[in-house]
Amino acid sequence: MLKNIAKKLLWHCDNFHISNFRLLGIDTTMTLEQAKQVAAYKAVDEFVTNDCVFGVGSGSTVVYAVQRLAERVETDKLKIICIPTSFQAKQLIIKHNLTLGELETSPQIDVTIDGADEVDSNMILIKGGGGCLLQEKIIASCSKKLIVIADYTKDSVKLGDRYKKGIPIEVIPMAYIAIKNRIISLFGGDIKLRSAVAKAGPVVTDNGNFILDWLFTNQDLDWQKVNTTIKMIPGVVETGLFINMCQKAYFGQPEGNVIERSV
Ligand code: A5P
Repeated sequence: MLKNIAKKLLWHCDNFHISNFRLLGIDTTMTLEQAKQVAAYKAVDEFVTNDCVFGVGSGSTVVYAVQRLAERVETDKLKIICIPTSFQAKQLIIKHNLTLGELETSPQIDVTIDGADEVDSNMILIKGGGGCLLQEKIIASCSKKLIVIADYTKDSVKLGDRYKKGIPIEVIPMAYIAIKNRIISLFGGDIKLRSAVAKAGPVVTDNGNFILDWLFTNQDLDWQKVNTTIKMIPGVVETGLFINMCQKAYFGQPEGNVIERSV
């Protein structure tokens, strides 16, 4: 009970020092969800400004960013156009009564805030754990800034240190076996066709494609080269490698603080 009250307090007191709670013998460890929330709130507070075109990423961390955005729009009377990166993002925008825009009418996005499955020390991202990598990369490429929000488990030195599900690759369904064989012969590792959970058969993306998860074994590959080579294979639609795209990452920590990393 006391622990929960303390956590709520901590939650709302940006600068109240954690050591005060520790002195009282109260465990201040945050859940992963709380770590996502502190990162998301901080990024929205630092990057969202009036009259901006805002790219809304996908995944569970972005849910908190949209919550915060909705609060800011309400309290600060901000005018923001929101461009979604997936069906999920669009639903979030609608649910929070935010202004839904589209890339055709707002092709230049000021800032996109999105999650990531892993961020390495060079700010290379693995994205697509939620299957939305194609639209996420299109929106990121049209954004002046891509800001990542994540909990501390996504912060790594080398790709594959922490995220063990591999690099997602969106492919045209008829080509998935050929692409799988080609990637394994070029770079090694193993590839799994992503299976749906509440449906028999493969995951079908928002764009009607399949997802291959490439479980690479060599962590020292030249990712730029890998990305370009894979993209050149006919039938590959997009990879979940985001290179030279992200300017800043916010990692929510178990202690409630947020670690920031910029390029
Ligand atoms: C969606 O396809 C992904 O790229 C997500 O942005 C990524 O998987 C992070 O998701 P979480 O915020 O749920 O960890």
